[in-house]
Amino acid sequence: MSGARVLVTGASLGIGRAIAFGFAAERARLALTYLETEAKAVAEQCRDLGAPAVTLHRLDLGDERSIRTCAGEVVSILGGLDILGDNAGVVWRRFLEQTSAEIDLQVRVNLLGTIKLTHLLLPHVRDAVIVIGSTASLHGTATLSAYGASQWGVRGWAKALAREQPDKRIVLVHPLVTATRMNDFRSLPPERVAEVVLMVARGELDLELGADVDVRDLVRAP
Ligand SMILES: NC(=O)c1ccc[n+]([C@@H]2O[C@H](COP(=O)([O-])OP(=O)(O)OC[C@H]3O[C@@H](n4cnc5c(N)ncnc54)[C@H](OP(=O)(O)O)[C@@H]3O)[C@@H](O)[C@H]2O)c1
Repeated sequence: MSGARVLVTGASLGIGRAIAFGFAAERARLALTYLETEAKAVAEQCRDLGAPAVTLHRLDLGDERSIRTCAGEVVSILGGLDILGDNAGVVWRRFLEQTSAEIDLQVRVNLLGTIKLTHLLLPHVRDAVIVIGSTASLHGTATLSAYGASQWGVRGWAKALAREQPDKRIVLVHPLVTATRMNDFRSLPPERVAEVVLMVARGELDLELGADVDVRDLVRAP
């Protein structure tokens, strides 16, 4: 991983931040995105961990212009990517308590935003696209139906894309309930998910095209 050019979306917090720290410790060159949360301290810690270069980019996956600007900045700074880490996403619970606007945003960010960012960046990706999916896309999770729909969509898209682009490693990593803002900071530490992502990045797992890597199979639940 030393010197590899890696983009991690949604790296200001939670799983994305843990993934960024994991790549930093491997001395990867990092581009990290954030939306609302200040991420300078994350970049600083990545440098302290060993990342030779870290840049921060504001990205709103719900906004086409922001997606284009971010993709353009990353390609012009890093000259391409070795690994794209599609991680950013939003969750709401209880379908009937969601507003129509929240349902729209959930699908726009998690599904369309991820697809559109990857669409722009894929020609510049040399090695792998690691998509952070969810165990909610392996079965139906009660209370997460619209979120589940966005995640099943992401999973279907990534699996088809893996067949369309067999020269690239396109893999889904599905966290179980992880202790982040998204999940009231309860359950599996995000570092465990990051360890699995790093295993995938280093090519330590024997994976088929578009594989589903279920974090539960590789780390022990708390
Ligand atoms: N936590 C879990 O239990 C769990 C389980 C399965 C899958 N996942 C998946 O893991 C991924 C990361 O989740 P997490 O638990 O780490 O969540 P989190 O702590 O809430 O962090 C989400 C990240 O995504 C960013 N983000 C939010 N809306 C965005 C938008 N419109 N455009 C671009 N970035 C946006 C946030 O940026 P700002 O904070 O800067 O606004 C933050 O960096 C998500 O795709 C989620 O679906 C999580």
